[in-house]
Amino acid sequence: MPGYAVALVARVFSGIQPSGALHLGNLLGAVRNWVEDQHTDDSIFCVVDLHALTVPQDPATLRTATVQLSQLLMASGLDPAICTLFVQSHVPEHAELSWLMECTVSFGELRRMTQFKDKSDRSEFVSAALFTYPALMAADILLYDTDRVPVGDDQRQHLELARDIAGRFNGRYGDTFVVPEAAIPRAGARVMDLQNPTAKMSKSLESPLGTVYVLDELRDIERKIKRAVTDTDGEVRYDPSNKPGVSNLLSILAACTGRSPEEAAAGYSQYGPLKADTAEAVVETLRPIQSRYSELADDPAESARLLAIGAERAREVAGPVLDRARAAVGLLPR
Ligand code: TYM
Repeated sequence: MPGYAVALVARVFSGIQPSGALHLGNLLGAVRNWVEDQHTDDSIFCVVDLHALTVPQDPATLRTATVQLSQLLMASGLDPAICTLFVQSHVPEHAELSWLMECTVSFGELRRMTQFKDKSDRSEFVSAALFTYPALMAADILLYDTDRVPVGDDQRQHLELARDIAGRFNGRYGDTFVVPEAAIPRAGARVMDLQNPTAKMSKSLESPLGTVYVLDELRDIERKIKRAVTDTDGEVRYDPSNKPGVSNLLSILAACTGRSPEEAAAGYSQYGPLKADTAEAVVETLRPIQSRYSELADDPAESARLLAIGAERAREVAGPVLDRARAAVGLLPR
């Protein structure tokens, strides 16, 4: 018998960092799928401000970014009436469970994380927390008895590690945590930079022309997509290794129109119409999000109220799970 209750509805959990502005990769790789999940599963989503602190942040910018991202998630369709949406640092159980995760993961496992290697290579100051980041991420997930974690492809390795940590903890101390599965979408799991289609679209790469931000002016979005790097052979075909630029446009078009990239390729024989249709599909995806965002941004007190309710609900789940883990390792009850 597991130490946790077996639920009838699947529990979904995912998180997003308030570092840099929300971009099309975040939306198509993750957030859009969260919006779907909330209707069918018991869904919990978190703005992970503690994770953002692993690299130096300007305090005022972090504050603004946390509010803006929370409002953008609501504008994208997360409905606090049917899902739980909260800010990580409002639920202190995350930081506490993270310690138990750090005591369960090995130095060697953390050293193999490719995101740590990438980020530490690019930074002058490498915090200890950047190294232990995946332990906090495992805590986020395991605190909620999570069955499924909808993420983009770049989080696959962190998810595998969270599963390993859960398995090791359960093996050492008895069944305590649900071992979660990653859920990675068919289209949009890896949106690439429009100017450099062999690198993923990212908040941290300085590539203003290659990154479509959800709050970009719609005409700038159109311009960025029409100027996307393609290739010279002129054939429209989904082939990410040989045709990364064209394949990226097909993935974006597919994700925005609910098809596979191969299906999206049918009917195109030139790059111009493909770019025009992709630009239109992205603009039509972002237009309603931008207009809902402008309404929500006018009422910061309301979003703060909704986030406080979310944190309260999250704590109701996280508290008992943390107590279970504390008891399992031999900490005295408080
Ligand atoms: P973050 O904030 O970098 O990204 C949030 C989500 O967006 C996805 N994503 C992409 N998907 C497709 N194409 C892209 N170019 C692209 N860029 C980003 C990410 O895969 C992610 O799903 N470590 C996480 C945050 C986190 C978390 C968690 C996630 C903390 N705790 C617990 C899940 C569960 C991160 O930095 O995501």
